[in-house]
Amino acid sequence: MKIGIFSVIVFMVWSGSSLAGDTKFSAQLFAKFQVKGCTTCHDFFEKERSGHAFTSHKGRTSEMCVLCHTQEVTGFKNADEWFARPGLYMSGMNAQQTCEATKASLNAKFKSKTKIARDLELHLFEDPRVLWGVEGATPKSGMLPDGTKEKDLAKGGLKIWKEQVREWIRGGMKCQ
Ligand code: HEC
Ligand code: HEC
Repeated sequence: MKIGIFSVIVFMVWSGSSLAGDTKFSAQLFAKFQVKGCTTCHDFFEKERSGHAFTSHKGRTSEMCVLCHTQEVTGFKNADEWFARPGLYMSGMNAQQTCEATKASLNAKFKSKTKIARDLELHLFEDPRVLWGVEGATPKSGMLPDGTKEKDLAKGGLKIWKEQVREWIRGGMKCQ
């Protein structure tokens, strides 16, 4: 009997700590970074996609984005934050590649760990585009110009998103 209770406690401690200690990028964040709500935009200039009124979304200039992705649609404070550029992590990358590309776009190679951590938090917690891709982070998350909604968003809400990002940062931002 004593042994039974003891092993239950050991198991609880062990499983609890293994959950809290899951700081690998591949554990939680990889799947969230790879939702369509993030990658369709990151793929924008590198992979063909068909637009609404044009045969390709690709030919549209940055000035044009806000004509359709208006403030009313995105909920952004500044509508022109809705833009895309190449050289970001993309769909189809594995966990290692997604993580490395994320760091590369932050020029992480040239920054101290504390600076990278701050930049990451700033971007992943405050950037309107990221919040648009996290389910429920804002009332307009996922909203598109034609009244449709991107459904493949980072699930679980903003609180859990922040916890998981902080865990990863605390674990040293390793790309495994
Ligand atoms: C509307 C398009 C769009 C959406 C949606 C979007 N991103 Fe981005 N993302 C960008 C652009 C553009 C940049 C480059 C920002 C710059 O150059 O100032 C970027 C940069 C990044 C970076 C690199 C850090 C940086 O500051 O350059 C990360 C990491 C990132 N995005 C993660 C995400 C995640 C995670 C999501 C989804 C939850 C997401 N993005 C959704 C367009 C988007
Ligand atoms: C003429 C209107 C129009 C313009 C201009 C426009 N878009 Fe769109 N965009 C749409 C519509 C409508 C959708 C939803 C249907 C679809 O996915 O094609 C959409 C969807 C998107 C998506 C897909 C998001 C997701 O996760 O499903 C991205 C990314 C995007 N637009 C980026 C841009 C960027 C960047 C620009 C400017 C370079 C731009 N759009 C200009 C109308 C427009």
